[in-house]
Amino acid sequence: MNLIEKIESKQASIGIIGLGYVGLPLGLSFSKNGFRVVGIDISEEKVEMLNQGCSYITDVKNTEIKESIENGNFQATTDFSTISSLDVICICVPTPLNKNHEPDLSSVKYVVTKLQTFLQKDTLVILESTTYPGTTEEQIEKVLTSSGLQVGTDYHLCYSPERVDPGNKKYRISNTPKVIGGVTKECVRIADSLYKTIVNQTFLVSSPRVAEMSKLLENTFRSINIAFINEMALMCDHIGVNVWETIQASATKPFGFMPFYPGPGIGGHCIPLDPMYLSWRAKESNFFSRFIELSQDINSNMPRYVVRKISELLNSKKKCINGSNILLLGMAYKPDVNDLRESPSLDVYELLKEKGALVTVNDPFCHSFVDAQNQSIDVQKKLNYDEITTYDLVVVLTVHSAYNLNDIATSGVSILDTRNALNGIELPNIARIGDTSREIDTGVSEKVLVSG
Ligand SMILES: NC(=O)c1ccc[n+]([C@@H]2O[C@H](COP(=O)([O-])OP(=O)(O)OC[C@H]3O[C@@H](n4cnc5c(N)ncnc54)[C@H](O)[C@@H]3O)[C@@H](O)[C@H]2O)c1
Repeated sequence: MNLIEKIESKQASIGIIGLGYVGLPLGLSFSKNGFRVVGIDISEEKVEMLNQGCSYITDVKNTEIKESIENGNFQATTDFSTISSLDVICICVPTPLNKNHEPDLSSVKYVVTKLQTFLQKDTLVILESTTYPGTTEEQIEKVLTSSGLQVGTDYHLCYSPERVDPGNKKYRISNTPKVIGGVTKECVRIADSLYKTIVNQTFLVSSPRVAEMSKLLENTFRSINIAFINEMALMCDHIGVNVWETIQASATKPFGFMPFYPGPGIGGHCIPLDPMYLSWRAKESNFFSRFIELSQDINSNMPRYVVRKISELLNSKKKCINGSNILLLGMAYKPDVNDLRESPSLDVYELLKEKGALVTVNDPFCHSFVDAQNQSIDVQKKLNYDEITTYDLVVVLTVHSAYNLNDIATSGVSILDTRNALNGIELPNIARIGDTSREIDTGVSEKVLVSG
């Protein structure tokens, strides 16, 4: 039986290396579709939790893991020698930046050393981690060739970017098309037969490089558009126009416009990092992307703008940041997830602490985080609506669905809304970023126009 026949009859066993936001849902998706899946991770703690049927990812329910384990279709291990018993290996390990903001491929390289030792003939290897064009061929194919393994004859190799959007209820793995680029035509044919078992649509490209580039194009597109609309918010603030209403108006155009929304910055493992992978790769070839650098600059400065707005609001109440009680709502980088990585809420927190604010952080999904001083900061999980008026200012940073926005808005406390979460609630205690068109009731003087 060849590998495609094994896949089509669900007799192929699948290994997922790296069981995080990407790898765990992917592995469970294969196991729910009848494959035997082995998850391999370096974290003993995660492996132990999974084998006990416990999830550490908001999107993944304990019952999903338990069912897959009980069906005999899922197990987790830290033992890389398991690779030798698997027909397919999907690599979903982290691809962060190092302290010099350059690609850190150490996890991918570590996995490749394990493939050198344990890979069996005819195995399909797919890299899913986000990375710069050329990685699959330069970091996997080349290294395996040096240890005597020829792609196409000894094993098969593809790149297929992961597009999962944690927290997205509409687009899941099954209804998000999968782009696949193989080193040979046969490689891509086998990977296509695999992914077709879990997704409705695949899109085959001519090489791993195109697949790698397509992922970076998607996320760089987002980063640049978010930066553009963030700059528009700064401009609207400056010239006294409501950016939110403006976007709403422009979005009525049924063609040629796609709404993006301003906010306190960008976060997560993708949008702040992926464009840097691309600009690093381009710089290697003496190509400098002004768009990428500019958007990184604008987006990474948004927390400073938020703090400037906080300062203005407090100032209008004859207060200053130093000594003020400020409540930050939403520490994760996006709604209804527990992911704090690169979250701009953390930057806002640090900037306020530097200026002497008494900051309380609230997030129903996150327990704690480590601050710039290496201190563990507890996150308040339950919001006490009765106490909300004890704060000098409440800052809405991430809009988790658990928040009762109406109660927060009508409490009378001064609010800075960085997401237009309180859209439609026009009360004098609410200020928004990118909107100086309205007068804010400060409760001190009559009324003050909050300027940019
Ligand atoms: N999180 C997202 O929304 C998202 C979306 C699309 C693509 N991606 C990309 O997918 C990749 C994984 O991201 P993630 O968010 O799942 O990361 P994550 O940090 O949530 O998970 C990575 C997992 O890999 C494990 N790991 C680290 N080094 C390892 C190694 N050498 N061998 C085995 N396991 C190892 C970690 O313990 C962790 O469990 C990254 O390249 C990321 O850019 C992420």
